[in-house]
Amino acid sequence: MINSMQFKDSITVKKIFDGIASKYDFLNDLLSFGLHRTWKKKLLSKLDPLPGEKWLDLCCGTGDMSFLLAKYVGPTGTIFGLDSANQPLSIAKKRAFENGFLSIRWLNDDALITNLPDHEFDGIVMAYGLRNLVDIKKGFEEVYRLLKPGRRVGFLDFKSFNDQSIFARFQIFYLRNIVVPIASFFGLGKQYSYIESSLKVFPLANKQKEIALSVGFKNAQFQTLAFGQMGILILYT
Ligand SMILES: C[S@@+](CC[C@H](N)C(=O)[O-])C[C@H]1O[C@@H](n2cnc3c(N)ncnc32)[C@H](O)[C@@H]1O
Repeated sequence: MINSMQFKDSITVKKIFDGIASKYDFLNDLLSFGLHRTWKKKLLSKLDPLPGEKWLDLCCGTGDMSFLLAKYVGPTGTIFGLDSANQPLSIAKKRAFENGFLSIRWLNDDALITNLPDHEFDGIVMAYGLRNLVDIKKGFEEVYRLLKPGRRVGFLDFKSFNDQSIFARFQIFYLRNIVVPIASFFGLGKQYSYIESSLKVFPLANKQKEIALSVGFKNAQFQTLAFGQMGILILYT
């Protein structure tokens, strides 16, 4: 089992995502009953990307958010997909090629130190990436630096709990009794047990908002999805 201390280093994170990349999309559909697609679309509907805008998909993985964004911004817009792991990124590139999303630019880099210019983007998204960052505050600082003034970033992730509510207990039940056993069947139980480990050190919604406001964001909104299991955090510069 990957414990939370081992989990929070970037080499381990990269290894996990390189290791699961080939089955990531399949397992995402299976384990969320396809609902991750609805949640991703929900995030974008709240952010409302406009034709011609320049967007960055941080922790893009195999590219789902980048492909959705490309449809919003159209041929006059620009999309960058960035991920630190090579394997998910090569699947994203292959999917882009097969589906004609040839203008998306793929970057193999760290979301905490992107080396992209200041105030470059109209919008940024991060789906299921925030929880994996070694330093969430640093992640918010980097996103703040990259956004133009008066723009927005949206994060979609599991919601973390520090109580014994029915929602918190359901989450543990779902992770231990559905996610890990199914992933184990495909030889990836150890890798998927990381979700529970990562949630143990993932700040609560109010804390996420507090950290974001402390780095300069002007407004922070949090909304739950999927009967409280998932959360959307939207920040405005
Ligand atoms: C759970 S996957 C999510 C992928 C995709 N956004 C999605 O929703 O399907 C998390 C991704 O974050 C990437 N990641 C984790 N830490 C990162 C970092 N510091 N910089 C860039 N990518 C990172 C991983 O390599 C992985 O592909």
